[in-house]
Amino acid sequence: MSSTISSFLYLISGICFIIALRGLSHPSTSRAGNYCGVVGMLISIFTTLTLDVVQNYAMITIGLLIGGVIGAIIARKIQMTALPQLVAAFHSLVGLSACFVAIAAFYQPEAYGIGKLGLMKPGALLEVALGLAIGGITFTGSIVAFGKLQGTITSNPLVFSGQHAINALMCGIVITLVILLCFSQSPVAFWLIFFVALTLGFCLVLPIGGADMPIVVSMLNSYSGWAAAGIGFTLSNHLMIITGALVGSSGAILCYIMCKGMNRSFFSVIIGGFGNKSKDFQKSEPASNQISVREGDAGEAALILKKASSIVIVPGYGMAVAQAQHALREMANLLKDRGVVVRYAIHPVAGRMPGHMNVLLAEANVPYEEVLELEEVNSQFEQTDVAFVIGANDVTNPAAKNDPSSPIYGMPILDVENAKSVLFTKRSMAFGYAGVENDLFFRKNTLMLFGDAKKMCEKIIQSLN
Ligand code: TAP
Repeated sequence: MSSTISSFLYLISGICFIIALRGLSHPSTSRAGNYCGVVGMLISIFTTLTLDVVQNYAMITIGLLIGGVIGAIIARKIQMTALPQLVAAFHSLVGLSACFVAIAAFYQPEAYGIGKLGLMKPGALLEVALGLAIGGITFTGSIVAFGKLQGTITSNPLVFSGQHAINALMCGIVITLVILLCFSQSPVAFWLIFFVALTLGFCLVLPIGGADMPIVVSMLNSYSGWAAAGIGFTLSNHLMIITGALVGSSGAILCYIMCKGMNRSFFSVIIGGFGNKSKDFQKSEPASNQISVREGDAGEAALILKKASSIVIVPGYGMAVAQAQHALREMANLLKDRGVVVRYAIHPVAGRMPGHMNVLLAEANVPYEEVLELEEVNSQFEQTDVAFVIGANDVTNPAAKNDPSSPIYGMPILDVENAKSVLFTKRSMAFGYAGVENDLFFRKNTLMLFGDAKKMCEKIIQSLN
């Protein structure tokens, strides 16, 4: 295929990816956006396979088969609730592949048309070095994020004094080594960049506490995009540069949105170790539910809901675990039939991934106009009869406003406490992801409905009927 045609097809793919990103920004258009992304990807794979530089089709077929089979198995088996750690694991692979491409390009520059071993073009060397550094940071940072999300590494912030200075020093060392490499072409500098970047990746993510993981996931998303763009420069592949830049910048925008949602500083996120003002914070055991919580059952909840004239439903991670969205919508429909005004309140970090709750509610065909964002809904709780909190915890926790030692301090929350009654549906007194006690459970206007979210909704439906 001529380079003009392949460039044109790459441009079409790039446009498809941009439209896909636009579509994915709203639940009503996300399906179409996804299809558009698939079309873009098919065009780009076809175009790449017909490039003159591609010689070994057997190797490519084997790679496609192995990767395709593994991908298909994971996609079929993965639980919705485990998607964030899967995304983190995939980010680590992007980082690792950027490192592999950089190593291959450094030792066989002829194959990439960027010079000879020890005599590489300075521009190409800079691209290789940046791809290596960003790839290394993304690789280890994503592994730590995976461990924290999976629960194999503690979600407590792992902090020590002088941490920021050490991170800054390592950043400085990487930059110095990159400059040194460009002038000396030294393999020692090359490998030092790799190892310092790997260490830096660990050090940037280890100090981040559980509550701030949404920001880390989007930050690593952005890093993986820049790593891919770095590979694109090394391979002189325009589409990879476009795609990497799209992922990198959309990840950065998402990171910014998450920072706003969590009230954290974007800059301190980039340098790592943010969100750990509460250095001395350690998770404790939840208080036993003997201590003055008001416990109710589905019948009591149905009575309260029936009498209400306005209800705000606050979904959280537990709704995703229980897959309660369909039963919840059915319950809401019954209440709406009785003339109750029902709305849903979404916190930007509810669940375990950006847009988690929006996706689940859209899947259950909840009308979009009933779904309100934090800023829209918070002023309305005072005029609300019942806040029905289903599987949410941290996103309603007033410690974020009142307790400077709390790891979630500063995060805006849904002010459910202002509603006349608050119903909490969860299985026990267990903490949420941030590991913090929620004082709301003990308030007079709170009724705890202990049980699985889906089963509780089904029982309330029975009682309403
Ligand atoms: P959480 O604070 O994690 O609380 C979820 C609650 O759901 C838990 O307290 C749990 O209590 C309950 N639960 C679990 N399974 C349940 C089931 N089957 N039925 C009923 N309840 C169930 O969730 P949230 O309020 O959505 O807040 C999200 C947290 O995750 C924040 O701290 C956020 O920073 C963090 N995070 C978010 C993201 C993104 S991008 N959204 C990514 C990583 C981390 P029981 O065990 O007692 O049932």
